[in-house]
Amino acid sequence: MTVCGYRYDVTQESALFSEFRLGRLRLPNRLVMAPLTRDRATHGTDAPHALNAEYYRQRASAGLIIAEATQISPSGKGYAWTPGIYSDEQVAGWKLVTDAVHDAGGRIFLQLWHVGRISHRSLQPGGVAPVAPSAIQAEGQKTFIETGTSGDFAQVDTPRALETSELPGIVEDYRHATRNALRAGFDGVEIHAANGYLLHQFLSTNANVRTDEYGGSIENRLRFPLEVVKAVVEIAGPDRTGIRLSPVTPANGIETTDAEAIFFPLVQRLSDLDLAYVHVIEGATAGPRDLKGFDFHALRKNFRNAWMVNNGYTKELADEALASGYADLVCFGRPFIANPDLPERFRRNASLNAPNQKTFYGGGSEGYTDYPALKEAAADV
Ligand SMILES: Cc1cc2nc3c(=O)[nH]c(=O)nc-3n(C[C@H](O)[C@H](O)[C@H](O)COP(=O)(O)O)c2cc1C
Repeated sequence: MTVCGYRYDVTQESALFSEFRLGRLRLPNRLVMAPLTRDRATHGTDAPHALNAEYYRQRASAGLIIAEATQISPSGKGYAWTPGIYSDEQVAGWKLVTDAVHDAGGRIFLQLWHVGRISHRSLQPGGVAPVAPSAIQAEGQKTFIETGTSGDFAQVDTPRALETSELPGIVEDYRHATRNALRAGFDGVEIHAANGYLLHQFLSTNANVRTDEYGGSIENRLRFPLEVVKAVVEIAGPDRTGIRLSPVTPANGIETTDAEAIFFPLVQRLSDLDLAYVHVIEGATAGPRDLKGFDFHALRKNFRNAWMVNNGYTKELADEALASGYADLVCFGRPFIANPDLPERFRRNASLNAPNQKTFYGGGSEGYTDYPALKEAAADV
């Protein structure tokens, strides 16, 4: 059937549209909206506002939304105008978002973020160097900084190595952020341990050269990320806690030369802690799905609960991953930026809007809340 140029092939339902029990939630479908930084929080307070609520409301038909990476503390920030979850103002802003999504029948987790060395002095409280496991700059890596009312890309700064005595304070920041996320009405939280940010830096071989009990051996490199996971679980419960991992990505200059040796025991520990899900980015984040000999299917066997996959998935690839029993949930990033009604488009095998990269970061409603849903697109014809 063709309506106004759109093909509406109502084909056999794919596994994407079956329900799934995720911790305390019943998801109506297996499509998850990926955490996507959009740099559109309120300038000055980093609090979400009405436009952000509208953006997420439009995407509430996802089985689950994972809201964008959100700094747990002022020093966890690495990009201009990303939201925080440490102040009351930010909690109130996020409440607008969670209310809008819940009123539209959706479910939403918050991604908890500390960028570690991927930052710039101009984004840090007091203009000091960002903190990281070791004082090693992520060479050639850029971040997005404030330049007046617009933004620009700049080389990340050389970080200062965290003192061992400072680490409990960061764990406490995760606890505080988790409490705030629940106060703001989120259904759960996802710990961001991917893409070369703080927790991934501790796991890595090129950003962590510490000589205390947080560096060196596999056990030591796992220690800080696991302390954070346990702290978050204490507050949210394991059934409202997920984690994102990207074992082989080179994102933000990260390298883990012994990826299987560290990620396999990590996932086993996460299973023992009974986390609701593990979310894996397969390959280079938003790049090639080249798995460099890393066996994701074997990794999946180390985890007892939901397995969520991401990176360059199409509807066909998603169907395969679900039908084979490998994945339980499939997470889509760029397709959700441009298609607020992605589940409906997949269901109808309709064409997809293309995302406009120029409006990914910063700005207002353009390229944010103005991508048409099918009905609007058809009405415009
Ligand atoms: C604009 C943009 C912002 C992103 N922000 C985040 C983020 O906040 N947290 C995160 O874990 N990944 C982030 N990513 C990575 C995506 O979540 C996802 O892993 C990537 O886009 C690959 O999925 P896709 O092929 O479905 O787009 C971002 C990617 C893009 C393109």
